[in-house]
Amino acid sequence: MRVLVTGGAGFIGSHTCLSLIKKGYQIVVLDSYANSHKESLKRVNKILNLKNSEKIKLFKADIRNEEMLEKLFADSKKENNPILAVMHFAGLKSVSESIQNPMIYWDVNFNGSLKLFKIMDKFDCRTVVFSSSATIYSLSSSTNLKEDSNIGPNNPYGETKLAVEKLLQKMFAKQKNLWRIANLRYFNPIGAHKSGLIGESPLGLPNNIFPLITQVALGMIDKFFIFGNDWPTLDGTGVRDYIHVMDLAEGHISALEYLLKNEPQILNINLGTGKGTSVMELINIFQDINKIKIPYEIKGRRVGDLPSVIADNSLAIKCLKWFPKRTIQEMCADGWKWQKLNPNGFKN
Ligand code: NAD
Ligand code: UFG
Repeated sequence: MRVLVTGGAGFIGSHTCLSLIKKGYQIVVLDSYANSHKESLKRVNKILNLKNSEKIKLFKADIRNEEMLEKLFADSKKENNPILAVMHFAGLKSVSESIQNPMIYWDVNFNGSLKLFKIMDKFDCRTVVFSSSATIYSLSSSTNLKEDSNIGPNNPYGETKLAVEKLLQKMFAKQKNLWRIANLRYFNPIGAHKSGLIGESPLGLPNNIFPLITQVALGMIDKFFIFGNDWPTLDGTGVRDYIHVMDLAEGHISALEYLLKNEPQILNINLGTGKGTSVMELINIFQDINKIKIPYEIKGRRVGDLPSVIADNSLAIKCLKWFPKRTIQEMCADGWKWQKLNPNGFKN
C-alpha cells in the first residue's frame, strides 16, 4: 500500500519513513527541504540496506503547490498504485519564529494543509494522520493533559495547528462516512534512531533543549542556560514529557493501522510517555549515561514557558494499543550518538 509522507525528510518524518518501510509500506515523500536535507532519506535507505529510490519516491515540492500535489496523486494513480493514506508532517514549527512572522506560519501550516486535503478529496484518498502538538492546550492546564483538556494555544504556531484540527473536524462532519483522521498531539520528541545515522538536524541555532544540550556537549556552544530554577516543580526547573522519536514514529504506524482497520472516524490523540523529566534531571541523565560534562548556568524564566507539561497517554495506549518503550536514558544515549557521529547534522 502506498502512503504519502509530507515533510518526510524532516526529523520526525524521516524516522517515520523508516518505520513505514519496515512495516512493508511503499512511500512517496513530498518535501521542499525548507528545514531538512535529502541526505536524511538516503540514510534511511542505508539503515535498511536499500538502494536509493527502491522504496522511497521523492518529490521536491512545496506543500502549497497545488499543481505538484495534483501531479503526485495523478502519477500514482496512473501507475496503478494510488496513494491511499497521507501522513502530514510538512510545516513550520518554531514558536518564536511564528510570533515574529505569523503570516508565513498561517500560509504554510494552514493553507498548505487545506490544499493537501482538497487534492486528497479529489483523488478519493481520505485517510490522514496529522502532526498536531501539545501546544494547542491552554496555558492553565499543564499536567496530565487529556485530549479533552482545555484548548487555547498562546502562540501563532499553536493557532495554526488548532485551525488544521478544526478544519479536519469540519471535513469529517460534512462527509461522516468517508474520512479517517488522526490528529496526533506530540509532546517533546527527542533522541534519534539507534544507528546514529538519522536524527534532528536543525538549520541555524536551535531553540529546543535537546539539540542545545548536544551542541554544548560537542563544544559548539559554551554552556547551556537553564530557563528558571524557581518553577513550582520538584527541583525548580521546567518539567516536560520527552518522548523518543522512534516511539513517536511507531505511534504513527499504530494510528494509521487503527484508522485503516476501523470505521471512518476522527481521533485526537496525545503521543507522550506520561512521565515528566525536569531540565536538571535531563542534564544529569545526559551527563551520566554519556560520561560527558554539560556546563550550565541558571537564567531567568523564558517568556511563555510553563512549569510542567505532561501527557495523559491512556487513550493512545487503549485505542492504538501503542505504548512508548524507550527510556529517557535511551533518548539521551541515542540522541548523543547521532550528534557525535554527525556534528554538523546532515550538512557535509
Ligand atoms: P522538521 O522541520 O524537521 O520537519 C518538517 C518538514 O517539513 C521538513 O522536512 C521541512 O523541510 C518540510 N517543510 C517545511 N515547510 C514545507 C513546505 N512549505 N512544503 C513542503 N515541505 C515543507 O520538523 P519535525 O520536528 O520533524 O516536525 C514535523 C511535524 O511535527 C511538524 O508539522 C511540526 O509542527 C510537528 N510537531 C513537531 C514537534 C517537535 O517538537 N519536533 C512537536 C509537535 C508537533
Ligand atoms: N529550556 C531551557 N533552556 C533552553 C531551552 C529550553 O531551560 O535553552 C527548557 C524550557 O524552559 C522548558 C524545557 O527546556 O522547560 C523544554 O523546552 P523546549 O523549548 O525544548 O520545548 P517546549 O516544551 O518549550 O516546546 C516544545 C516545542 C513546541 C511544542 C511544544 C509542545 O518546541 O514547538 O514542545 O509541548 F509546541
